[in-house]
Amino acid sequence: MAEVVIVENSEAAGELVAAEIVELIEGRPDAVLGLATGSTPLPVYLALRSRLAGRDVSQVRGFALDEYVGLDPAHPESYRSVITREVVEPLGLDPRRIHVPNGAEATIQHAGGDYEAAIDAAGGVDLQLLGIGTDGHIGFNEPGSSFASRTRVKTLTEQTRADNARFFDSVDDVPRHCITQGLGTILRARHLVLLAFGEGKAQAVADAVEGPLSAFLPGSAIQLHPHATVVVDAAAASKLRLADYYRYTFANKPEWQGI
Ligand code: PGA
Repeated sequence: MAEVVIVENSEAAGELVAAEIVELIEGRPDAVLGLATGSTPLPVYLALRSRLAGRDVSQVRGFALDEYVGLDPAHPESYRSVITREVVEPLGLDPRRIHVPNGAEATIQHAGGDYEAAIDAAGGVDLQLLGIGTDGHIGFNEPGSSFASRTRVKTLTEQTRADNARFFDSVDDVPRHCITQGLGTILRARHLVLLAFGEGKAQAVADAVEGPLSAFLPGSAIQLHPHATVVVDAAAASKLRLADYYRYTFANKPEWQGI
C-alpha cells in the first residue's frame, strides 16, 4: 500500500517533498517532474524556491496533469498560466521543457494522444505530484474514470466546478471540460506523491488509502502503485483507521530510505 506520512502542517509537507525532488534532480539533472495545480502543491513549489536557488535546473523537464478545455492559455487561471506563474518562473525552469496538455478546441481530438507520446518520448515521469479532490479525483479524473485511462477529455463534476470557482469571478466561468492525464498515465510515473491538507480532504484520503479499489474513487488507484507516498496533515489524516501505525512506521524508518 501507499506509505502515509503525517506531518505537522503543509509547510513541513512542502519541505519533505521538496527535499525528495532536489535529491532526484541531483541524481538526474534532466529529471521529469509530474506537476500538479490547485492549492495543495503550492507549499512544495515554495520550498523548492530556496532549495533550488543557485542550482542548475536548466535540464529539468515537467508535465502538468491537466488543463481546462477551451480556456485561453493566456487566461490567468489556465493551468498553463498557473504552472508558469507558480513553478516555471519562480524556480527558473526552461519553459520549453515544461509541458501542459493542450486544451485548444481545434486540436482537442488528438491532444490526448499527443500528450501521451510526449511523456513516452521523455522516458516517463520520475516523480508525480498529486492533490486529491473532495470527490476523490486525482488529476481531473472524476469518479468513474477507468484505472486504465490515458490522457483524454473529461467532463468536470459540478462539485469540482464549485470547488474551483474560487479561482474565477463566478462558477459560470469555470469550464465544463478538461483534458487530463488518465489514471493509467499517472500509474506509469515511477513515484507518486499525493498531498492533502485540511479536514475537507479527510474522507477522500481515507477512501483513497484504505478504501476498496474503485473507479468511483479515482484516488484509490494509488493502491496499485509500487511506490506511492501520501503526505497529509493531521486534519486530512483524521479519518485514517491506521493513523497510529503510519506515525509509528515513519518514526522508525531508517533515514537513508527517504520517502
Ligand atoms: P486543491 O485541489 O489542491 O486546490 O484542493 C486538489 C484537486 O482538485 O486535485
